[in-house]
Amino acid sequence: MHILVTGGAGYIGSHCVQRLLRDGHTVVSYDNLFRGHRRPMDLLAQQHPDTLTFVEGDLCETDRLEALMREHAIETIMHFAAWAYVGESVEMPLAYWRNNTVGSLSLIEAADRAGVERFVFSSTCATYGEPGPDQIPIRETCPQQPINPYGQSKLAVEKILIDWVRACTNEGRPCAVCAPRYFNVAGCDRSGLLGEDHEPETHLIPVILEAALGRREAITIFGTDYPTPDGTCIRDYIHVEDLIDAHVRAMEALEPGDTRFYNLGIGNGLSVREIIDACREVTGVDFPVKEGPRRAGDPPVLYADPSKIRDELGWSASITDVHEIVDSAWKWFKAHPDGYGD
Ligand code: UFG
Repeated sequence: MHILVTGGAGYIGSHCVQRLLRDGHTVVSYDNLFRGHRRPMDLLAQQHPDTLTFVEGDLCETDRLEALMREHAIETIMHFAAWAYVGESVEMPLAYWRNNTVGSLSLIEAADRAGVERFVFSSTCATYGEPGPDQIPIRETCPQQPINPYGQSKLAVEKILIDWVRACTNEGRPCAVCAPRYFNVAGCDRSGLLGEDHEPETHLIPVILEAALGRREAITIFGTDYPTPDGTCIRDYIHVEDLIDAHVRAMEALEPGDTRFYNLGIGNGLSVREIIDACREVTGVDFPVKEGPRRAGDPPVLYADPSKIRDELGWSASITDVHEIVDSAWKWFKAHPDGYGD
């Protein structure tokens, strides 16, 4: 299949490009390189020179995207390009609405004009906001009430896509959409080629590994007084390769008129302290840990009920031991202490 991957030079997008190329698809990776990296594109192009094209460009270039889709006979879009820092979204809401919502609208318009019929969109558990204790584990039917502009900007795109599919179906066009809602994506490509390189880095596991490498003085636990067994927040950590596997299955299953939403997690929560312990065991480093105040906007407990995607597509996470997730990341961080180095 001919697939356009937006955000293909980012952490999750690059892992998707790798998987699609391995599966024999022809991929156009589109990224403005604001937070993505050229290096993973070069590495993948060395392995797949005939089936990967990298294009540097912005989502807001609607006409250019339409031309690109026509030129490469794109059949499916996998849309990862976005800004994804909750805290930043509170400080810069307009940038989030522009990059995530307006950018996506531009891409969807280009797809509509170019006659692309299948669309897979990276959504997030942040669209659920702060579910009450009786809504954990989180099902897809949990009310979507985002509490920050990041979650709002993603939820808006889900709604645009639903309207688009409805209109296409009414016109007799066989469009279909899937929007996986991610929990905490972690780990790196186990072949060691691709990794995770964010600037700034705020995610728990990479921050801990930077402390283990001595590149940070310490890891600070954001809040130890949550209503959880050890007082720290609980999250659902899913390996990036499992996450991408779910995308591929969802893409293959799409039927005309579909609007499918799936929670992607392993279905189990781990606390910040449990993650720290696992990182100590994997790295063998006794890095310093500080206890700090809560970070604004962190719900105490978030983990998925992934039974919908299991029942409908037969997918469940293959990596359920967090040590394996951490180990895959640790190998890459140790080998690339400066990330991709750009
Ligand atoms: N944490 C720390 N110290 C750190 C970093 C994180 O204690 O230095 C804690 C956080 O407070 C949180 C947990 O570790 O309790 C996980 O934090 P991350 O920043 O790694 O991930 P989040 O759960 O905040 O964010 C994830 C996704 C977002 C998504 C969000 C939805 O990365 O894209 O879930 O709530 F929006």
